[in-house]
Amino acid sequence: MTIWTLAIVAFLLICIIDAWNLPSLRKSTNDLESEAHSYLVELDQLSSQKCYESYVAEWAYATDINDENEKVKLELSLDSAKFSKEISQNVTATFPLWREFKDPDLVRKLKKITILGAARLPDDQFKKYAQLETDMTKHYSTTTICSFKYKETCNLSLEPELTKIMRESRNEEELRHVWTEWHDKSGGPIKQTYKKFVEISNQAAKLNDFNDTGALWLNSYESETFKDDVEELWQTLKPLYQQIHAYVRAKLRNVYGDQFSDDGLIPAHLLGNMWAQSWENIDSLTSPYPNKASIDVTEQMIQQGYTPLKMFQVSDEFFTSLGLIAMPDEFWKESLIEKPDNRQVVCHASAWDFCNGKDFRIKQCTRVTATDLVIVHHEMGHIQYDLLYKDQPYFYREGANPGFHEAVGDTLALSVITPKHLKEIGLLDESIPIDDYETSINFLFSMALNKIAFLPFSYLIDKYRWDIYDGTVDESQYNTHWWRLRKEYQGIKPPNARSEANFDAGAKYHVPANVEYLRYFVSTIIQFQFHRSLCIEAGQYDPLDPKKPLHNCDIYRSKAAGSKLAAGLSMGSSKPWPEVMRVITGQEKMDAYAIREYFKPLEKWLTAANEEMGEIPGWK
Ligand SMILES: *[C@@H]1O[C@H](CO)[C@@H](O)[C@H](O)[C@H]1NC(C)=O
Ligand SMILES: *[C@@H]1O[C@H](CO)[C@@H](O)[C@H](O)[C@H]1NC(C)=O
Ligand SMILES: *[C@@H]1O[C@H](CO)[C@@H](O)[C@H](O)[C@H]1NC(C)=O
Repeated sequence: MTIWTLAIVAFLLICIIDAWNLPSLRKSTNDLESEAHSYLVELDQLSSQKCYESYVAEWAYATDINDENEKVKLELSLDSAKFSKEISQNVTATFPLWREFKDPDLVRKLKKITILGAARLPDDQFKKYAQLETDMTKHYSTTTICSFKYKETCNLSLEPELTKIMRESRNEEELRHVWTEWHDKSGGPIKQTYKKFVEISNQAAKLNDFNDTGALWLNSYESETFKDDVEELWQTLKPLYQQIHAYVRAKLRNVYGDQFSDDGLIPAHLLGNMWAQSWENIDSLTSPYPNKASIDVTEQMIQQGYTPLKMFQVSDEFFTSLGLIAMPDEFWKESLIEKPDNRQVVCHASAWDFCNGKDFRIKQCTRVTATDLVIVHHEMGHIQYDLLYKDQPYFYREGANPGFHEAVGDTLALSVITPKHLKEIGLLDESIPIDDYETSINFLFSMALNKIAFLPFSYLIDKYRWDIYDGTVDESQYNTHWWRLRKEYQGIKPPNARSEANFDAGAKYHVPANVEYLRYFVSTIIQFQFHRSLCIEAGQYDPLDPKKPLHNCDIYRSKAAGSKLAAGLSMGSSKPWPEVMRVITGQEKMDAYAIREYFKPLEKWLTAANEEMGEIPGWK
């Protein structure tokens, strides 16, 4: 026998012994990997179908809250959770060593399959989880309060009535009434439910090998340092926030003097918004140059007979002008864009991808206002993203991280609401000068009321929940801790004494609905990075040309900008987000540079104005 024959015999022997002892290792890794590939292809179909079925039921419920729809929705979400659990178990059973596969793409997909969130819970626990979440959201969506002016009228909903009062009323007593009633009635009653929910949610996180729900949420950002990175970004932007806070405080003190004391805090009910999360509705009270023509286009929209449909069409036209995808027929047929008056619905705006590549819808109780026009673009951005990655494998049909999904529509809206663009689409009078300094400052100021005011709020909601989920704060401190953070980060205080009988965090949709919120902070940062990069691409911004400042840029009709954005977004979650970020911006990190660049003229102006008034930024 030659040495080769010997070797072959030895090899065969080893194979036989191997096969006899360890049948599961008989297959080479290559075979296993290709088997896993085939399984994933099969799952693609199945998962899309399951997802479709459960969204149909969820949509039916969200657009018509009743017991029957609730029952069906809960059944299908249980069904869908069982399915996720089954495929995850199958993967672990069939490919116990999948983490060692050579193909990184395969490992990435399998990892997504095996992180299940709440679906990992045993069936009875999952049912409880889903029921608690439904109960809280239903309570939130159906809460009504009594009117301040007409005491017997007790059917005021958050949308539209309370939102409108918070936006328009300048009567301190009325604002206080609405603020207090809403917080007492929506938040307070769900406190115990929320506590139970936190416990089950944490059990689920642990079953997924995370310490708690906060850690599970952070996992979607695929970075060990994410929490620190976010804190650092906030620290960079805090001085700008404090400038706008101080300026607004001084202006509001002129209007509601007796509501202020020397602690430097702003009462939360005076900022034009139920949660004091963004302040653009008090623009008219605080505008730097009030004698300049207003660039709030709400009046114009009403005068021109805008309807919710028209608002969606205007948005669609902006997307297609960039060479992006037009909304499909199903979208126009199936979306719900106005609040129906014959049934209760979950009014909180949302965008839906039914996972079948055809059916995409928005649900929004749209009002004809400039703010809602921006929200329309925001929601349309979600659908555009869904459309761009619809041909990715099922497990990659999601945002590069949750913040990316929130940033798409907002990025476009940064162009749409420039005075230049509003003129172009006929919403701003031709005669209004837009290039002069004072109009620019007014514009940047209103943008800051929206975007900069939002930063601490969008950060603290999850900071609060991280502390609850990891046990730093228990039920006896739920409301105290909420106000501790509201004070520390936002510099605001409640309009009257609060106690642990209240649960004021529960008065914000994303808490009862259990939607992670850090995504909105991330989105606010990266949308300016996207905007900057697309503006350069469109030739609308030049860092060296003072005639082309970032805040004036409008990327309308720039196919180059559109295709750059599409190149990144169509990747879905197939690559870690820094790679997607690089495609869109050339940079791999979140960075406050773009947002600071955008607001630079305003920051300078505010600093001088506060100094002149003797208004010292910050609070006790
Ligand atoms: C999971 O594995 C079981 C047992 O092999 C099989 O019957 C079932 O069809 C598999 N489920 C899926 C969704 O692949
Ligand atoms: C609320 O009730 C009043 C009468 O009490 C009625 O006129 C009004 O139409 C109701 N509004 C809504 C939104 O149901
Ligand atoms: C998770 O919990 C364990 C045990 O309490 C602790 O030792 C570990 O540091 C925690 N991990 C993280 C990332 O916080």
